Amino acid sequence: MRKAYIDAIGMYVPENVVTNQDLEKLMDTSDDWIRERSGIQERHHVDGECTTDLALKASEEALEKAGMQAEEVEHIIFSTMASDYFAPGGGPMMTRRLGIPGTPALDIRMACSGFLYGLSVSKAFIESGAYNNILLITSEVQSVALDFTTAGRDTAVLFGDGAAATVIKATDEDRGLLSVKTHSDGRYAEDLMLRTPSTLDNPFLTKELLDKGYGNVVMNGRTVFKHAVTKFPQVIAEALEAAGVEKSEVKLVVPHQANLRITEAVANRLDLEMHSVVYSNIHKYGNTTSASIPIALFEAMQEGKINRGDTIVVASFGAGFTWGASVMRW
Ligand code: UT7
Repeated sequence: MRKAYIDAIGMYVPENVVTNQDLEKLMDTSDDWIRERSGIQERHHVDGECTTDLALKASEEALEKAGMQAEEVEHIIFSTMASDYFAPGGGPMMTRRLGIPGTPALDIRMACSGFLYGLSVSKAFIESGAYNNILLITSEVQSVALDFTTAGRDTAVLFGDGAAATVIKATDEDRGLLSVKTHSDGRYAEDLMLRTPSTLDNPFLTKELLDKGYGNVVMNGRTVFKHAVTKFPQVIAEALEAAGVEKSEVKLVVPHQANLRITEAVANRLDLEMHSVVYSNIHKYGNTTSASIPIALFEAMQEGKINRGDTIVVASFGAGFTWGASVMRW
């Protein structure tokens, strides 16, 4: 049966590194608090770059690794929470940046689950024969929408900017995406949101709205945490069952990098050994929203932790709420 598999990944983070000590100068926080509560030591923030700048660098690397010219890309899927323009989205912009006008492009804005939703659509597109390859781009610039004063410290210290691009191709071999399961629950929309611009207001963007902080990401951290540690294991179990794969066969779990404590709690609940089976690189990047899983996959591959034939699980939880998991044979 025709399957979709990840052929190549590229990644890019801005050069500008922001350490916990740098944040101590802006707000009432401490390196100890951030490390203990989240595991984060530093993150990268843009310095004048926009979302498609990051996306272009990651895409060029992914295409080179896949041995493809941009002209060969059959479909783009673009995931971000902050595109260059409010409208149009980043997908069409990427056809311009890559010099491939006319290429179909689909925008998804499923926050931290953007990569999982992108895999879900890619799997369906490729298995149905509609396309032979997809360029799934996940590019996030969060730093422009964070409040770097003490009032915004519970959120601002967690997020970082970064991008990844994943080339997904068709194969007749017994490998690739075995299952993808996704969910959403809008009852918790306000627990992690960026409110403005919003059609709840007319006009939808005013100085008053921005002065209220509506242009910043806000989060009810405890609620997000509580739901995340329950949903991650649930959806991973669901994806394993759909793939017909036993937990003992899994070589590596690569979760969305939101908080090292969430990752550890998930490892505990799944009875997995944190350091050998569950991947984490949050200390270097913070939470890069939908880019975090493919950035982690990229680095796990580079470190030799993912090899051909391995069974890999990826999983996410984030704003919406949205969550998902996929089981893949590399
Ligand atoms: O991508 C998916 C979305 N995000 C997540 O999955 C994140 C989910 N949530 C979390 O990771 C955690 O809830 C946080 C890391 C955000 C917060 O950790 P927590 O253990 O839940 O802390 P808390 O919100 O209960 O706050 C504890 C204290 C509070 O002070 P009081 O009320 O105890 O005096 C906060 O005001 O820590 C204070 N605090 C800070 N202190 C220093 C909050 N942020 C900071 C900060 N530095 N940056």
